[in-house]
Amino acid sequence: MHFLKPTALLALAALSANALPTETPDSRGIFDEIQITDDLLIFDSPAFPDPNKAGNTLVALQTFTSLRQLDLGVVTVAVTAFLKTLNIDVGNSLNTLQERIKLFGAIGLPGKHATIEVPGCSTSSVETGDSSGLPDLGLSISTLSLGNCGSTTELTATADLTSIDKRNIHGTIFSSSSSGFGVISDIDDTVKISNVLDTVASIKTALLDEPKPVPGMPALYTSLANSLKPQFFYVTGSTYQFYPFLNQFLDTTYSTAKGPIFTRNLTIIDPAQLISLITSSTTQEYKVGQIDRLRSMYPSKKWLAIGDSTQKDPEAYAEAFKKGVPIQCTWIRRVEGANNTAERFATAFSGVPATKYRIFTDADIPSLAKINVAGGAC
Ligand SMILES: *[C@@H]1O[C@H](CO)[C@@H](O)[C@H](O)[C@H]1NC(C)=O
Ligand SMILES: *[C@@H]1O[C@H](CO)[C@@H](O)[C@H](O)[C@H]1NC(C)=O
Repeated sequence: MHFLKPTALLALAALSANALPTETPDSRGIFDEIQITDDLLIFDSPAFPDPNKAGNTLVALQTFTSLRQLDLGVVTVAVTAFLKTLNIDVGNSLNTLQERIKLFGAIGLPGKHATIEVPGCSTSSVETGDSSGLPDLGLSISTLSLGNCGSTTELTATADLTSIDKRNIHGTIFSSSSSGFGVISDIDDTVKISNVLDTVASIKTALLDEPKPVPGMPALYTSLANSLKPQFFYVTGSTYQFYPFLNQFLDTTYSTAKGPIFTRNLTIIDPAQLISLITSSTTQEYKVGQIDRLRSMYPSKKWLAIGDSTQKDPEAYAEAFKKGVPIQCTWIRRVEGANNTAERFATAFSGVPATKYRIFTDADIPSLAKINVAGGAC
């Protein structure tokens, strides 16, 4: 599923509260270091073997640089007013709300670079931010060489800040071999209850409520972690503004199945782009693109793809399979209220052998753990 609609509405609400950034990369100087007045988010990122140099590891390191926010008051007022139009009362969840909307009020800073240290690899530090001038105001994905990282699968990437800046800003790098298994998982309504079919409920769940897992899924993922020994990758249609929330949820509720989360990079400075996203559905294309990206990082991995019927997971996973991505098995959670007709699944999976996918109900979840995916079953 994706939060595009609520995200876009929220972003518009936040936008109306925020002055647009007046500083351009040119006026700040391209490749400025991170200052104490800036914020840096280091996303958990995937690392993979360098196809051109045996023993070398590459990381696709994603960061977001913004102006450090000291006061969320204006954005909070705008978002609270927006919620009121939907009859959502913030009640005593103001702290939660402020935590979750932080990045909606953030003003991204393009052209920044950061020095990142990755102990455990032979290259002691790398520079991010050299991302060929992406128009994404502060978001960057840089593919960087880490040298030799041995067989360590979890590395910590820590920002090396200026000497007066004592913050500890870090993310995790998940390093995985080219082969073996990978699990590609959606988040909303696949592993986390998000009520995506109901706009008002989904906004409330995203901004105010304690996140809840889909019952049985944490145990299933633990079982997969033991049987398949995969690297997990979460591919969500949600935008990066929700990343801290989703990351914290997965870290605590799916601690046996940790992995990078690929979010969408919708920025809030362009209302026209937002409005076109509200009215168009690009989730399928986005997900297929991310799965292609994973295949290029890990060309010999086999995949188990897990999603749900609310949005376009069946269509996206089937399209990736038909493009030749070695998806050994696709599992789709049947979510009540979604289009669960035989016709929909037949259309989505036409050209995919019936032995390669499975639509499951919540009652089926415990039995999924017994399927020998490593042995070729689905
Ligand atoms: C953001 O999305 C656009 C459009 O999908 C893409 O061209 C761009 O490379 C993305 N940038 C990042 C940093 O992911
Ligand atoms: C369900 O999906 C099928 C196939 O895409 C479509 O033809 C049908 O109209 C949809 N049904 C509903 C109720 O949306």
